[in-house]
Amino acid sequence: MSFSADWLALREPYDSRARDPSVLAAVFAFLREKSAPVRIVDLACGTGSTLRALAPDLSRAQTWRLVDNNLSLLARASEMKPPEGVSFSTIPIDIGYDLEAALDGPLDLVTTSALLDLVSETWLERLVTEIVARQIPIYAALSYDGRVEAGPSHRHDAAIVEAVNLHQRGDKGFGPALGPAAARNAIARFQSLGYSVVNGSADWLFDSADREIQTEIFLGWAIAARECGDLPLASIVEWLTFRRDEIAAGRSSLRVGHTDFFAAPIASR
Ligand SMILES: C[S@@+](CC[C@H](N)C(=O)[O-])C[C@H]1O[C@@H](n2cnc3c(N)ncnc32)[C@H](O)[C@@H]1O
Repeated sequence: MSFSADWLALREPYDSRARDPSVLAAVFAFLREKSAPVRIVDLACGTGSTLRALAPDLSRAQTWRLVDNNLSLLARASEMKPPEGVSFSTIPIDIGYDLEAALDGPLDLVTTSALLDLVSETWLERLVTEIVARQIPIYAALSYDGRVEAGPSHRHDAAIVEAVNLHQRGDKGFGPALGPAAARNAIARFQSLGYSVVNGSADWLFDSADREIQTEIFLGWAIAARECGDLPLASIVEWLTFRRDEIAAGRSSLRVGHTDFFAAPIASR
């Protein structure tokens, strides 16, 4: 599955606003106790949005390793001008195959954003095992969790969301994806292995002014519904036309549920 830099740039300000402050506070409190520079690896970094979200407020010297398998996104990330005291390198790794290489060497924190809903249960189990074996924490932000509220409502909303959530469980390069169940599954796994978890909602909230991103999301959902689910094409077109008309009329709002969590070995907190 490929993600465009344009899409990542469009969503980044909404992601940044959505990140749960109590989860971020737990990450910062943990890192304050570590000697500088703190060493962080960001899995599936895209163009580097997690570094941009965290680095300015960390107020410590930091060394980031940014990992992705998309060379064009990594090239964008490498053009970043980080805040003072922050250094980073970009590393091309397919974490589906070589997760261990991404986590190699001493680390204080693993981060990831908008990744876990793409991965399979088998790969998640591997990630949890690798992290717990190293007794390091993870900050996993912005996993889609299946909750959607669109306004004004339409008679096909429920069927479209059901199809989207089914589509989310398709293979995104890691085997059948956990989709909306990912964050819940990951949190339960870390807790069962003696980690303590701080979690919270990190929902996208779009109002009538957020036309471009709502247009993109609704189009993506119509395409997903065409590929999955039982709605006939005519019903999908009716729904998409309604959603576009509402956006154009300045009446559209949307909440898309995401979950953030910070999981750390109990002894380290
Ligand atoms: C939804 S984007 C999120 C990007 C970034 N974390 C952010 O929040 O903007 C998912 C990212 O996962 C990366 N990705 C997907 N499969 C991957 C794999 N097998 N190995 C490494 N990165 C992968 C994509 O290239 C993309 O950058």
